[in-house]
Amino acid sequence: MSLREQVITEFQHRFGEAPTIVARAPGRVNLIGEHTDYNDGFVMPMAINRAVWIALRPRLDPYVVVYSCDMDEVAEFSVLEMVKGRHSQWAEYIKGVAWSMQEAGLTLKGWDGVIAGDVPIGAGLSSSAAVEMAAARAFGHTSGIAWQPVEAAKMGQKTENEWIGVNSGIMDQTISAGGVEDNALLIDCRWLTLTPVPLPPETAVVIMDTMTRRELIGSEYNVRREQCETAAKFFNVPALRDVNPAQIEAVKDLLEDVVYRRAKHVVTENARTLEAADVMRAGDAVQLGLLMNASHASLRDDFEVTNNALNVIVEIAQAQPACYGARMTGGGFGGCAVALVKLSEAEAFASAVTAEYEKRQSRTPAIYVSTATDGASISPEVSA
Ligand code: GLA
Repeated sequence: MSLREQVITEFQHRFGEAPTIVARAPGRVNLIGEHTDYNDGFVMPMAINRAVWIALRPRLDPYVVVYSCDMDEVAEFSVLEMVKGRHSQWAEYIKGVAWSMQEAGLTLKGWDGVIAGDVPIGAGLSSSAAVEMAAARAFGHTSGIAWQPVEAAKMGQKTENEWIGVNSGIMDQTISAGGVEDNALLIDCRWLTLTPVPLPPETAVVIMDTMTRRELIGSEYNVRREQCETAAKFFNVPALRDVNPAQIEAVKDLLEDVVYRRAKHVVTENARTLEAADVMRAGDAVQLGLLMNASHASLRDDFEVTNNALNVIVEIAQAQPACYGARMTGGGFGGCAVALVKLSEAEAFASAVTAEYEKRQSRTPAIYVSTATDGASISPEVSA
């Protein structure tokens, strides 16, 4: 049974009738442009074929009643009583979206819903952004609000920053809201312009979960953000987006070494991401792969957000003949890497990486071959 069918069937069982609508929002993988979003820079994520689904029907009152299939738990709240922290984390994301939509001046109505997802939690594939964007579509439907992906993404980021307390950038929600089938999205994180860029022909995107997790990611992430802000202040510009690689090299000796290396990563990564858009438009998988490899080296050596498992899995991937390039993806310190691979050899690549990683790390990775999908959508329930 597909997840769509699962939420519809469960809804019928719990609420005694069919849902009126089904909302879906995908997770994401970032091909290149890492730790650039909060520097007003460029990112190139794509929406993946794993998503969060909500089957729902509107209510006439302000109550939201949701059953989570994954947690086997019901959460209930009124959009008129916004109190943080009373619910499990998954429900706090839904409540936080209700809060940020109302902060934006929108009037919300409640709904009954059933939620389920197959974006692995905590793996760096943005399961939380997927919950937020699915919830935004659900509230949008019941409250008669036109869907505007960038506006929804901003509300999702506000939820993450101010309701959940994670200081993340705008990438994850933007791609979950605005993804385009068969394309990655070049996102300009300052102006929030979204440009679809096709994946090179005859390639597959392979996500490799190291199955390692970093619990302190929040604090390390914030330290990186502060170091980037220090560098931007040095140049007297609003963000590192406004600095180019030559400018960084020119002042190398004046900057604290760690700040120099953080800034160098960000400005070279912005340049690589723009170059990636050009080579993708030219259908050049080889050049895109080389840019991905360079991105990994920069994240490993200068930005220092990899861990041993990520370095090992990327090294294994890069050594496979079918692989154009590979790098860590997402926040880092654990979680997933991504590889660009010859389409016809994707399955063999996945088996080879699994075997070699098991040998070297005594751990089994989770490997997902993903197409690029559309962003958050709603579709009327026709039949399960
Ligand atoms: C996390 C954050 C994003 C982005 C990446 C790093 O996924 O949620 O906003 O900063 O890390 O590129």
